[in-house]
Amino acid sequence: MPKLFVSISIWGILGLASVQATSGAWPYQTFRTESFEPPVLDINRTGAELAEGFFVFTPQGPRQNSPVIMTDCGDLVWSGPNVSSANLVVQSLNGTPVLSFWQAPAVVDEVTPFTYGNVSILDDTYTEIYNICPDLNLIAPDGSPSGCSLNAHESLITPRGTILVTVVNITTADLTSVGGPAVGWVNDDMFLEIDIATMEILFKWRALDHVPINTTKAILTGTDGLSRSNPFDWFHMNSVDVLGEGYLTNSRTTWSSYAINSTGGIDWILEGSTGGDFSLPSAAEFAWQHDARVYNVTPSSLVLSLFNNFNSQTPTYPSRGLLLYLDLDNHVVKLIGAYEDIEDQTYSISQGDFTQLENNNWFVDYGDVPQMKEFGSAGDVRMIVQFGDLPVQNSLKNFSNSTVYEMSYRAYKQGWEATPGVYGPAVTIANSKGYVSWNGDTRTTQWIIFAGKSISSLQEVATVNRTGFETSFSIPEDEAIIQVGAVADEIILRNSSVIKIWE
Ligand SMILES: *[C@@H]1O[C@H](CO)[C@@H](O)[C@H](O)[C@H]1NC(C)=O
Ligand SMILES: *[C@@H]1O[C@H](CO)[C@@H](O)[C@H](O)[C@H]1NC(C)=O
Ligand SMILES: *[C@@H]1O[C@H](CO)[C@@H](O)[C@H](O)[C@H]1NC(C)=O
Ligand SMILES: *[C@@H]1O[C@H](CO)[C@@H](O)[C@H](O)[C@H]1NC(C)=O
Ligand SMILES: *[C@@H]1O[C@H](CO)[C@@H](O)[C@H](O)[C@H]1NC(C)=O
Ligand SMILES: *[C@@H]1O[C@H](CO)[C@@H](O)[C@H](O)[C@H]1NC(C)=O
Ligand SMILES: *[C@@H]1O[C@H](CO)[C@@H](O)[C@H](O)[C@H]1NC(C)=O
Ligand SMILES: *[C@@H]1O[C@H](CO)[C@@H](O)[C@H](O)[C@H]1NC(C)=O
Ligand SMILES: *[C@@H]1O[C@H](CO)[C@@H](O)[C@H](O)[C@H]1NC(C)=O
Ligand SMILES: *[C@@H]1O[C@H](CO)[C@@H](O)[C@H](O)[C@H]1NC(C)=O
Repeated sequence: MPKLFVSISIWGILGLASVQATSGAWPYQTFRTESFEPPVLDINRTGAELAEGFFVFTPQGPRQNSPVIMTDCGDLVWSGPNVSSANLVVQSLNGTPVLSFWQAPAVVDEVTPFTYGNVSILDDTYTEIYNICPDLNLIAPDGSPSGCSLNAHESLITPRGTILVTVVNITTADLTSVGGPAVGWVNDDMFLEIDIATMEILFKWRALDHVPINTTKAILTGTDGLSRSNPFDWFHMNSVDVLGEGYLTNSRTTWSSYAINSTGGIDWILEGSTGGDFSLPSAAEFAWQHDARVYNVTPSSLVLSLFNNFNSQTPTYPSRGLLLYLDLDNHVVKLIGAYEDIEDQTYSISQGDFTQLENNNWFVDYGDVPQMKEFGSAGDVRMIVQFGDLPVQNSLKNFSNSTVYEMSYRAYKQGWEATPGVYGPAVTIANSKGYVSWNGDTRTTQWIIFAGKSISSLQEVATVNRTGFETSFSIPEDEAIIQVGAVADEIILRNSSVIKIWE
């Protein structure tokens, strides 16, 4: 059956953004008031009901490496700092919505487990209220100190006011069970639970203490594991969730999710090919998976979601969101749903996430493939969003050629209401027109333009509706200065500074 997609012209939707295209690169948006360069979103919908919400993600690509919030029409809402980032997400901290993201000091082409950084938590005025930066005195592959030691993989805020984060320490280990030296070098993946208010580390779990290295599906080859600069990445922890009194953590490379109890012991393992401690139907098999999460937890059962990449190096199998029912008494897994786009499969080799939306739709971010898809609860694809060129069997993916890739470690579709606290609207004049934006504001619906010969004579001259991220307006010819107010519900939220019309 042909797909009945409604193709929506970006030209009709994007507020004022100029769309730029350079040969070989995905088109991006530019503005007069800010230097942000977010990708143009190519969005198709079937017309079936979608969840409300903004796209909340971290497109890493040639033009800009920033956490961004964009509308489901492709308008920019907020652009964060131009840094390598991951896990931009709206979470609840002590009952209040906050925005959090992981960031690294340098813009790097490829974020690895050794890209060390910190997690910033912003309130709804974009003020940083916490920065999570434990310095565990780690040493990077190149011998340099890590500083803030968090890697990109997890930054989950829990209902108890703590945050779950991931760290990789390079250490020595016996690699004879995988054909390596007796003293080899490995990544020791760990997660920490940190009290956000006090920054105290409350819990620490190291994979090497609990999981044999030879359960890995990674093959030790070449110089892997022979030096600190090339440690064996045998576990690759990529998510941590709260599970009862303990945790659920996920290893890409052992194809397993581990239920960890409050003293660090492993209660059970769900493995993607054999089932581990469970019997697993073949339709529910998974490999190289990301983002394992639990729902509806009882002592005898739970629902587990994960993003089954199903590929490591060579794209072979279609990637999909998996929703599994785990019977913990009888150790049986039932497949609840596999969320994949049968008519337009996506083959993801790394990263990605799979989340439930407020109306019970499901949302997949395909990690290294710059696509996001929304599915109905029954698994029918309802929206496809693309924000970069698709890798053609990886031939486009060349990290040293930064004009061709774009990806987002995770992506979410979420509600968010915010008004910047520390800065007001940005106004500029170009080509005899005025332009105004207010990075991150979600409330402004109109702009009120004041003009005059001097500050004391400023008078309202026009009100214009907000159009997307940036709005243009006409400037009065015989005045000297203007000021623009951001209006919501007929109230001025904030004025811009006063600027001269003519230099
Ligand atoms: C972001 O930073 C990168 C690397 O420093 C730089 O090349 C790029 O121009 C910056 N982009 C924007 C939009 O500022
Ligand atoms: C967190 O990382 C950002 C980006 O590198 C950096 O600007 C900031 O200073 C860091 N914060 C701390 C507390 O280290
Ligand atoms: C990292 O590994 C080194 C070398 O084995 C060890 O001395 C150090 O304690 C480890 N750090 C952490 C935070 O586990
Ligand atoms: C892992 O190594 C141990 C010790 O050498 C061995 O007993 C076990 O059978 C091995 N397991 C696998 C999955 O190869
Ligand atoms: C956690 O698991 C370990 C290993 O099975 C066990 O010895 C320990 O008693 C468990 N702790 C709790 C609190 O259940
Ligand atoms: C949207 O549909 C158009 C027209 O069929 C197609 O060219 C484009 O590739 C589609 N984009 C996505 C992201 O599916
Ligand atoms: C990057 O790769 C693309 C596709 O292989 C190629 O067309 C383009 O010329 C390359 N750009 C640079 C700067 O090397
Ligand atoms: C990647 O791109 C760089 C720069 O364009 C080029 O020098 C290099 O040969 C490319 N590598 C591969 C594997 O295509
Ligand atoms: C401005 O927005 C209001 C409310 O959506 C609408 O009724 C009005 O027609 C818009 N004005 C213009 C000029 O587009
Ligand atoms: C905004 O600026 C106008 C013109 O200067 C002034 O009349 C008004 O009081 C200001 N409002 C706020 C809320 O600052």
